[in-house]
Amino acid sequence: MALHRLMEMEVGVPDPSTLDDFYQEIGFTGEKGVWGSETYPGQIKVSEASYRQLKYIKMACEDDADIAAIKTRLDAIGVAYEHSNGELQVTDPINKWRYVVAPSAVTDQITMPRRALNSPGNRERVGERAQVLIEPSPRTPRRLGHVVVGSPDPQKTTELCLALGFRASDTIGGGMATFMRCSRDHHNLLVTPGPVPYLNHYAMEQDDFDAVMRGATLYLRAHGEENQVAGPGRHQIGGNIFWYMKDPSGTFFEFFADMDNIENDEAWVVKDDWDMTDAWSIWGEKDQPELFFKVPDMEELITGWNASQ
Ligand SMILES: [Fe+2]
Repeated sequence: MALHRLMEMEVGVPDPSTLDDFYQEIGFTGEKGVWGSETYPGQIKVSEASYRQLKYIKMACEDDADIAAIKTRLDAIGVAYEHSNGELQVTDPINKWRYVVAPSAVTDQITMPRRALNSPGNRERVGERAQVLIEPSPRTPRRLGHVVVGSPDPQKTTELCLALGFRASDTIGGGMATFMRCSRDHHNLLVTPGPVPYLNHYAMEQDDFDAVMRGATLYLRAHGEENQVAGPGRHQIGGNIFWYMKDPSGTFFEFFADMDNIENDEAWVVKDDWDMTDAWSIWGEKDQPELFFKVPDMEELITGWNASQ
């Protein structure tokens, strides 16, 4: 009994139509304001807001017993909730976005055809050209995988998320930031420091290395290098291949693949003593670009947040 999937997120932006175009371009299906992959439709909702912001994230739990356990933990830390129509709704007292937890069947992703790769002594592809070259269309993202937010009080926000049932995977900075999961993914959520609450990035899973590289390359060729944020690389924490770019609303998005996967929660050991020398990426850029946590539209976000309080 536990949280087992990141179901949805909603973003609010001043001009939702630009995101409608964007999600179509990267290969999501859906309709105005509701986008997702073929296997996980409707994972990303878009609504109009005065400045770009995260509205909610929704997680799947197994049953009502999970909801009852979450309520007990929320009571213990004094955070209010609403429980109606089977869903638990919590407004974050610091950041004002909402968390929604709803019972849902445990499912896994549909297996995608693996591309045959050659390596020394292991020839999976013989007498055939590389599949990434001959596929009729580029692979598209499969699902929303994780969300990284900024908060004026990341520790309190993390404490709330753990009470909601997120599980700690790894920590950095002496417990300053905790990578958390609500599924088998190494991380579905990370709360980082921010002058005001904001959405730092959201990540969409691609099939493999080629799909990340190809998807990012096509996007940057079409929209210019000014939308490059970071990558490609492979994070140590989570182990995933990454490439970060900027979507038309100004939010960073990530294509990722090959993330660490945790099946046995009891057997997983949270690591807190990372050698930060190569923590950002084991190859490619050595350090996280400064831009990453100094997002270009921060002044607008601060103004927007202050005006809404
Ligand atoms: Fe990420």
